[in-house]
Amino acid sequence: MFSTAPDSSAPAAIPDSQALRSCWHPVAYAHDLGAEPRRAILLGEALALWRDSAGTARALSDVCIHRGTSLSLGRVVGDQLMCAYHGWRYGDDGRCKAIPQLADPSRVPGKAQVAAYMCQERYGMLWVALAEPRWPLPEVPELESADDWQRVYCGPYSWRCDASRQVENFTDFGHFPWVHPGLLGDPERPVVPKHSVQTDGHILRYDVVRPEAPNSDEFPVFANQERVAPERHSRYQLQLPYTIVLRLDWGSERGMVYFFASQPVGDEACVGHLVIGRNYDRDQPPEVLQQFEDTIFEQDRQVVESQRPEKVPFDLADEMHLKFDAVAVAYRRAMRTQGLALAAPA
Ligand code: FES
Ligand SMILES: [Fe+2]
Repeated sequence: MFSTAPDSSAPAAIPDSQALRSCWHPVAYAHDLGAEPRRAILLGEALALWRDSAGTARALSDVCIHRGTSLSLGRVVGDQLMCAYHGWRYGDDGRCKAIPQLADPSRVPGKAQVAAYMCQERYGMLWVALAEPRWPLPEVPELESADDWQRVYCGPYSWRCDASRQVENFTDFGHFPWVHPGLLGDPERPVVPKHSVQTDGHILRYDVVRPEAPNSDEFPVFANQERVAPERHSRYQLQLPYTIVLRLDWGSERGMVYFFASQPVGDEACVGHLVIGRNYDRDQPPEVLQQFEDTIFEQDRQVVESQRPEKVPFDLADEMHLKFDAVAVAYRRAMRTQGLALAAPA
């Protein structure tokens, strides 16, 4: 007998790249953009990122209107980005301001312009929206004040999968004892605790108190209480489409906040950006936490890159959901309700 099950590599609903243009997405860490322009890919569009003379981050299409040269190969001159090939200079509005080959370089034809995109710097990341964004970025006061909270930047994590798979992996806690035994979960206590998801428009919230692995000697990064069976309190806020704020504590005032956002590079590529705030162990070198996260993300990468289809199939008839998969179910529902995932073309 042959199976008549539908082809699992052909999901019925997938992320809608047109709708995703109207959302903020991370494109780089702010500290990685200095005086030199830099290239980034967002939803298949090549961007030239650069800073004007005031240090404000700007984003233009990376394709020069003249001969298609990558503008990020050029350099910044005052408040303009100059193409490396023939020196045409563009303002932050994307209009070409000077063509040096002309007798009067300022007599620029109106057609000489490239797309300019909204860009902002927040939580140590650069964010771009390719169209008017529908929602603001989430508020994370812990990351605004450097006094009490130390910030640690991790990654970026480039994976060969869709951003939806990378985000869904970050929301998933049932895999901890299996993929991260001894680091994030206790294989002796694999049962997923009861939890419920509150969906408020484009924001999903859920809290979990779950078994924690004891701190390992190699990575003493968590503020576990000295107990036989430590517990972790996790408060998640998932903002559609690909941003997560996760607050952790272990029953005391010592806490962490994870701010994670996945950059949708293209159909089968994404980049995870992670900044962690913590109000304890601020003297510990950031490398300890960074190496811990590198280890965790590498364990996850191997599993997630193997998933088929590469994008989360947003139709609930696809894949299999049990009661403890409430987050995945709510995420898929909300992405469809908000028009960020649509029926795939037949
Ligand atoms: S290709 Fe950019 S100025 Fe000619
Ligand atoms: Fe994981």
